[in-house]
Order: sequence, then structure tokens, then C-alpha cells
Amino acid sequence: MNKTSTERPVHPLNLGNIATPFKLLFTGYLSAVAIGYIMALIQILFTHGMADGKIGLSIEDIVYSYYGNRSGTVLEKKLNGSMKMNASETDRFKIIQWVRDDAPKAEFEQEIKPIIEQDCIMCHNEHASSLPNFKDFAAIKKLTVQDHGISYASLTRISHIHLFGISFIFMFVGGIFALTTINHHKSIKYAAIIMPFLFLLMDISSWWLTKLSPHFAWLVIIGGAGLGISFAYMWMTSIYQMWFLSRKLGHSDRRNAMFR
Ligand code: HEC
Repeated sequence: MNKTSTERPVHPLNLGNIATPFKLLFTGYLSAVAIGYIMALIQILFTHGMADGKIGLSIEDIVYSYYGNRSGTVLEKKLNGSMKMNASETDRFKIIQWVRDDAPKAEFEQEIKPIIEQDCIMCHNEHASSLPNFKDFAAIKKLTVQDHGISYASLTRISHIHLFGISFIFMFVGGIFALTTINHHKSIKYAAIIMPFLFLLMDISSWWLTKLSPHFAWLVIIGGAGLGISFAYMWMTSIYQMWFLSRKLGHSDRRNAMFR
């Protein structure tokens, strides 16, 4: 019926008619980056995946990796656990607030020290050799160290490495994919080419946002998944047209090949 849609002019240079040396070159490159991608995923499982102490990647892993595990200080755990009976509800709340504010010394002297002296010192003093001595600020401070996740310095480093490295990969994966003439709608092709860069930006921004607030952890998952899906789509389409589709169609435009 609609002739123009079936006889869309084909660009003279496309993955169907490109010369075999180029097909081999592209296939070699695509295979290497695909293996690289799988290795990267395995590495994510080993590093981030174990952040919460359990195997497999979860939202907690992402929060712990970037934001840190801020409920994990010994002092807070004890105040919610075996030391719960030793202080009133309000005193416990004050101490925990102070811990979460990074346990500053000035505030300790003003607000926390009186509570500790009243509720804890009778057991936690220099005579109890097996317990930390709470007359000594350093001994308390040691129990309030929080895990703040990745440092800003490391975040800056991995951000720039990822931005450079991953755009480099998608420059070529997208460049090869741009030569496909498979009959998908143009908008799908445009989307597939631009998507990795959008997801890359989302992925990197989500690391910074999660560093600031744990609520953004799910954005990291979406960013990463989006990158993976665009990669897989372009990879499969390109390989399919180079090695399977051209043979199936008999490709009349093979004659247009620019290089042999
Ligand atoms: C009646 C005595 C007693 C009082 C009062 C007491 N503690 Fe303890 N505390 C202990 C003992 C015994 C242990 C070791 C056993 C345990 O960890 O439950 C301990 C352990 C701790 C630990 C773990 C130390 C470590 O190195 O693992 C923290 C933190 C702690 N107490 C905080 C407090 C705070 C804060 C208060 C005051 C609100 C307090 N304790 C009051 C007896 C006491």
C-alpha cells in the first residue's frame, strides 16, 4: 500500500553491505566490550553487592556504599540494645541525636556529659577494666564513628572515569549501531543512540544524590539498568544485521558496498 515505507532509501554505507574486514573489526570490538560489561557487573556484585553483608545487590547496598550505614555506630546500637535500661527515653534520644550529628566535642561538654555522668559513669569508669571509660571523651568518641560511605574525593574520581570511559564505549557502540538499516521506527533508533548518555548522566548524578540522601538509591538502579538495556539493544541489533539479516535478505544493496 504505502510504497515509501517499504522502499525507504538505504544509506549506501550500512551494516548490511559493509565489507567483511569492517564486520570483523566491529564484531571484535563489540565482543570485547560485551565481556568488559559482564566483568563490570561481576565487580559490582563483589563490591557494592556485599556492602550490607549479604550476597546480591539491593537498595541497602547502594545506600551503604554511597550514603553509608549511619545507624551503625556502637553507641547507638547499644543505647537501643543492652544499655537501653540505663537512660531515660529523652536522654537516649539526646545522645543518639548527638551521635548522628557527628558527635561534636562542644555539644558533648554542654549537653551530653551531664547525662553520661548521671547514667553511665557508675559502670563505665577507669576502674572497670573491661568497659570503655566514659570519663575520657576520646573513648566515647571512638564509639560514635559513623560510616559515611564513599568519600567525595573517590566520588569525583569514579565520576570522571565513568563519564570519560562510558561515553567512549557508547561513542563506538552507538556509531556502529547508527549504521543499522533494520526496519525499526526511526524514533527507536534515535532513542537508542541518545539513551545511554542520558542514563549515564542519571547514573552519575544519582551517586551524588545518594551520597547526600539515601532516598535517591533507586535512581542508581534505574540509571544502571537503562545503560544496560540500551547497550544490549544496540549490541544485538548490530550483530544481527551484520551476520544474520544481510544473508537472509540477499541484500540487493550489497553491490553498493564501499569497501570490500
Ligand atoms: C549497670 C552498669 C552499666 C551502666 C549504668 C551502663 N553500662 Fe554500658 N555497659 C555495661 C556492661 C556490663 C557492658 C558490656 C556488656 C554489653 O555490651 O552489653 C556495657 C557496654 C556498653 C557499650 C559497648 C562498649 C563496647 O566497647 O562494645 C556501650 C557503647 C555502652 N555500654 C554505653 C553505655 C551508656 C551510653 C550508658 C549510659 C546511658 C551505659 N552504657 C550505662 C554496663 C553498664
